[in-house]
Amino acid sequence: MIKLGIIGTNWITKMFVEAALATNEYVLTTVYSRSLDSGEKFLADLRIEDASVVTTLSDLYADIDVVYIASPNALHFEQSKAAIEADVHVIVEKPTTSNPVEFAEIEQLLAQHADVRYFEAARHIHQPNFKIIAQTIGELSEIQGATLVYQKYSSRFDAYLAGKEPNVLTREFSAGALYDLGIYPIYAAIALFGAPQAVQYLPILLANGADARGTANLFYDKYNVTVIFGKNANSYLPSEFYGLKETISTSNIAELEHVTYYDGEGQTENIGETPYDNPMIREAQDFANVINDPVGNHVIYNQWFQLAKQVNQTLFDLRSSAGIEFPADQKE
Ligand SMILES: NC(=O)c1ccc[n+]([C@@H]2O[C@H](COP(=O)([O-])OP(=O)(O)OC[C@H]3O[C@@H](n4cnc5c(N)ncnc54)[C@H](OP(=O)(O)O)[C@@H]3O)[C@@H](O)[C@H]2O)c1
Repeated sequence: MIKLGIIGTNWITKMFVEAALATNEYVLTTVYSRSLDSGEKFLADLRIEDASVVTTLSDLYADIDVVYIASPNALHFEQSKAAIEADVHVIVEKPTTSNPVEFAEIEQLLAQHADVRYFEAARHIHQPNFKIIAQTIGELSEIQGATLVYQKYSSRFDAYLAGKEPNVLTREFSAGALYDLGIYPIYAAIALFGAPQAVQYLPILLANGADARGTANLFYDKYNVTVIFGKNANSYLPSEFYGLKETISTSNIAELEHVTYYDGEGQTENIGETPYDNPMIREAQDFANVINDPVGNHVIYNQWFQLAKQVNQTLFDLRSSAGIEFPADQKE
């Protein structure tokens, strides 16, 4: 069994722990929290009795195989670095790091710790419906781009309107709409079409300079991908991939609840699978496969790593095109 430690005690960590346990590949051994009370409450909610709570990273990394990091984005870099230095595998929530300089430092550190594996928890690309979309796009005679949407009113936006500064809506925590939700469609575009030749982001900014919503364009040789995302409104638009006359449509590029194929005549076929209720089980299983057999799975691991790197660079290029700076950029 893979000994799992976690950072962050919010709902997403609970979902990941439930997914990891459902694979029967992991055992939760250690919870890191800034407070013992939060860590103990987290374990009690999950009815787990044989794990411990620690409040320092050195105690967390002393006796685990892999850490799942779900802290505010700006903390991912230092917490990942400390894990790699302790020879602990890393599953880090999206986005991996605040910028490409940090990512390059992670890559250098990984070269010195060759047995450590570093995964970005981009859960949607591990879903069967994502693979069905990829395969169906591969069968199109021509690709003419896509419109990808992920726009959801944030549970924290009410707090913002009430004058607070939730982490996920601040540049101090390397957050905002692009790095929080835009990353899902950007991931999909790069996984399916490769790195774009050029990008442009037109955001709507909050008073604190973080982006609340926006539209981005990824330009390729023969087509472009339009990406719509936001945290201050709900969208019910589907996401679509275009062939010549054919279209592949999905409910929402992060959740991928269904996939519909429209032939040239507009006739539809449901080509998707019903996803598991917990959308993190597939990634937890994929990461366990690599940890358990790194040699047998090195090709797919390297593909995920290169994809994470390209996504990180593209996010940075997009926000640079809009003049959005993060304080983390000044630490370089
Ligand atoms: N894959 C997905 O579907 C998905 C969904 C939601 C979020 N996420 C990702 O998960 C990560 C966490 O997001 P979130 O919305 O849960 O963030 P959050 O609520 O702001 O913080 C997550 C945890 O980090 C700790 N934390 C909070 N503020 C902190 C601070 N100022 N300094 C140090 N630690 C702090 C807290 O744990 P303690 O109090 O126990 O220390 C908290 O439970 C982000 O990277 C986000 O992108 C992914």
